[in-house]
Amino acid sequence: MDSVLLAKFVTLTLVLLAGSADGQVVLKFGKCPKVVGQPTLDKDKYFGVWYEYERFPAIFEAGLDCTSATYSPAEDAIKVTNNGTLRTDLLGKKVVLRNSTSNGRAVVINPDKPAELSVAFGGAPQSKRANYKIMATDYTTYSVIFSCTQLEEVNLQFAWILTRARGVAPPNLKRLKSKLAAAGVDVTEFFVVDQKDCPAKGPTTADIVMDEV
Ligand SMILES: *[C@@H]1O[C@H](CO)[C@@H](O)[C@H](O)[C@H]1NC(C)=O
Ligand SMILES: *[C@@H]1O[C@H](CO)[C@@H](O)[C@H](O)[C@H]1NC(C)=O
Repeated sequence: MDSVLLAKFVTLTLVLLAGSADGQVVLKFGKCPKVVGQPTLDKDKYFGVWYEYERFPAIFEAGLDCTSATYSPAEDAIKVTNNGTLRTDLLGKKVVLRNSTSNGRAVVINPDKPAELSVAFGGAPQSKRANYKIMATDYTTYSVIFSCTQLEEVNLQFAWILTRARGVAPPNLKRLKSKLAAAGVDVTEFFVVDQKDCPAKGPTTADIVMDEV
């Protein structure tokens, strides 16, 4: 398949997914919203465990809750470990059907834009495009991430509001969303991730063994 045909095929598949019952992707007409990363990034302060508070529907996270992202130092990069559970209700109790972990790597593409990273999972080739833009973080409470890919006349968006405390809304949540909305992002696509009754907490920053990286 040539690349134009492939792009059309991918686009069509995504349109079908977006239209399905519980749309698993956020696809919008026109150009990507102009969200930019914050001007600086202190990696050391950013490392450690973050929990998803809200996110856009994402096919690669379909059905996952209790989701976390752990960032730790790696040579010339940041190691990313995304965890989540696939759970079902059994007689009013949440039962874990599957624990999911995916490992990835984040790199800064342009040193002038340290909060705009390229993240790749499972050894996939590292994109030369920043697909993980940290729009705002205070390192201790929240982090707002935006990602957008232009596919001809439509664009595919992902967004996450991460928190250090599992399931606790950042106090400035409204302001963070207004900032995204001002950049043209449809914040009604956010949904709250279930972080209740999750399996025991993962390691804290202090528990991350650097040698493993
Ligand atoms: C998922 O991980 C938890 C520990 O965090 C474990 O207790 C549970 O058995 C695992 N469940 C499955 C289905 O692997
Ligand atoms: C993520 O899962 C791995 C096992 O695959 C585990 O070692 C780690 O502690 C988990 N991290 C969090 C934050 O739950």
